[in-house]
Order: sequence, then structure tokens, then C-alpha cells
Amino acid sequence: MARILLVGSNGQVGQELERLLPTDQTLAISRSQIDLVQPELLRDAIRQYQPSVIINAAAYTAVDRAESEPESAQTINAIAPTIMAEEAQRLKAGLIHLSTDYVFDGKQNTPYLESDRTNPVSRYGRSKLAGEVGVQSCDRHLILRTAWVYGAYGKSNFVRTMLKLGSDREQLRVVVDQIGSPTWAKHIAEAIVELLPQFEQEQIAAGTYHFTNSGIASWYDFAIAVFEEARSLGWRLNIQEVVPITTAEYPTPAMRPAYSVLACQKIFGILGRHPAHWRQGLRQMLTHLSQTPV
Ligand SMILES: NC(=O)c1ccc[n+]([C@@H]2O[C@H](COP(=O)([O-])OP(=O)(O)OC[C@H]3O[C@@H](n4cnc5c(N)ncnc54)[C@H](OP(=O)(O)O)[C@@H]3O)[C@@H](O)[C@H]2O)c1
Repeated sequence: MARILLVGSNGQVGQELERLLPTDQTLAISRSQIDLVQPELLRDAIRQYQPSVIINAAAYTAVDRAESEPESAQTINAIAPTIMAEEAQRLKAGLIHLSTDYVFDGKQNTPYLESDRTNPVSRYGRSKLAGEVGVQSCDRHLILRTAWVYGAYGKSNFVRTMLKLGSDREQLRVVVDQIGSPTWAKHIAEAIVELLPQFEQEQIAAGTYHFTNSGIASWYDFAIAVFEEARSLGWRLNIQEVVPITTAEYPTPAMRPAYSVLACQKIFGILGRHPAHWRQGLRQMLTHLSQTPV
């Protein structure tokens, strides 16, 4: 029987994972149990629990704040996963780790393959890339790079921010020149759970895989879709106008890739199905939210 250690169980993906993983085989830990700014505590916990697989859904995800807190981002996104990899290796366990489209610089205009050159343009992206390198020291690793994650649970995200702003305001300005694939946290968690049996039996080659919902959007397109879908579900919104603006008109501390669409054929080949379109994920998430407000 698998012994699963889920790290980061309070995050968007972490909460979806905790709902899906078998409770009798899973130890889920969040920041309140172990603060990853002291990653050595995690080493002790892994030695005690002796998992057969570690799933790391924890990360320092505040992309802009990472510019002024690079040490915290590095500790949580690079040192902690490296310790997970070292301990997994000692136990001959597997390690499933989440990473990001922000390891790329966004200068490409076709979907990024797993083998494409990384070149992060932010401290967050650099810390996540360093985490990938650390994770590779475990023979049985799976790095799932995903992108533009939103979910019903965990901290706020683009969808929930848009719903709030869309009910408070009549006009919004949203960036139109960054392109990616919005991805529902639940779809990421479902894919991980689907992959687990094969991963445990070492039927999936160790390495890096891209996983997102299909289709592409700008943040502007995504905002419009949130309002359309929410209204179709009966949400009362005050928003009248969404104005497309450029990244240059909305300066942020961290640079973001202009284009970070990920090619996901490799993982969907293993899953043996097609990815859900981002708009379908959005509709499902909003339906869920409207039935069970968080
Ligand atoms: N969000 C995105 O748009 C996005 C895009 C691409 C890739 N990803 C990657 O996907 C993965 C999951 O992302 P997500 O959106 O689910 O992230 P999230 O909602 O921000 O969750 C991250 C979790 O990490 C935990 N964490 C942060 N600092 C910690 C610390 N010092 N000690 C212990 N736990 C700590 C957080 O704890 P608290 O709940 O206590 O804060 C949170 O539960 C991450 O690897 C992320 O890099 C995310």
C-alpha cells in the first residue's frame, strides 16, 4: 500500500489533492505543521513517516514579492524540494513536484516543449528552476510544470479577484499582451492522482512533463470569460467595460513571460486522453463556486 506524503496541503492544488487522495494512505502537511523556511524540519518528518511517494504542492508563489524576498523564495522553492529529493532517494521513494511556465522567458511564439531552453526572467522563476534541478537528484522524480493556476480553494487567484472586482467596479483594465493557458487546480490534482499508480510501479519515465488545460488566452481574454461564465450562472456583476492594456501600462516588480504556453502532448500521451479546454475548467470551477461559496 502506498504511503503518500503531501506537502503544501493548504494551497490551491494542495487542497484539491487532499480531497482526492486516499485518507488512509496519506499524511498531509501544511505550513502550520512544518514551515518550509526551516526545511530541515521536513527532513525529520520524511525520515519518521517513510513515504513511498512525496507530492510537493508547496511553493512560494508570490511572484512579485519574490523580487524583494529572494531568500525566502529560494529556501521554499529550491532548498526544500532538494531536501525532499535527497530523502526520497534515500528511501527509494518517488517525488512528484510542481513547477511553472515561468521557467521560460516567453520569447517563443509556439508552445514550449519540455526540452526547450529555460531562461527565467524573475526571481520566482529562477527559484523554481533551481527547485527542478534539486528534484532531479531523486531517480524517481516527476516534475509537472503547469501554468496560470486558479481554484476554488486556497489563497485568492485571478478568477476570484476578477469576481470581486467585477462586482465592485464598472470598469477594469486588464493586460492583453501576456499569453498562457489558464488551468484549474482540480484538473492538475486529478491528473496527479490518475498518474500515481503507474508512477508507483515505475511505469512512467522520470523527468519533466508539461500539464495545463488546452487553449490559450491573454489575461484580458480570461477576465472577459470569467464575467461571461459567471453571468451565465446567475452572478450579479456591476462590470460594464474591460479595457485591454499592455504590460508596459501595468508595471509590476517582477517581469513575466509574454508567451508561456506549454506543449502538453507528452503527459497526455501517458494519460491517454486529451486535456480539458481552459474555458471548460473555468465553467466547472465557477459552477462549483456558485453551489458552494468558499
Ligand atoms: N498559482 C499559479 O498560477 C501557478 C502557476 C504555475 C505553476 N504553479 C506551481 O504550482 C504549484 C502549486 O501552486 P498553487 O497555486 O497551488 O500555490 P498556492 O496556492 O500558493 O499554494 C502553495 C502552498 O505552499 C505553502 N507554503 C508557502 N510557503 C510555505 C512555507 N514557508 N512553509 C510551508 N508551506 C508554505 C502555502 O501555505 P499557506 O497556505 O500557509 O500560505 C500554500 O499552501 C506550485 O509549485 C507553483 O509554483 C502555480
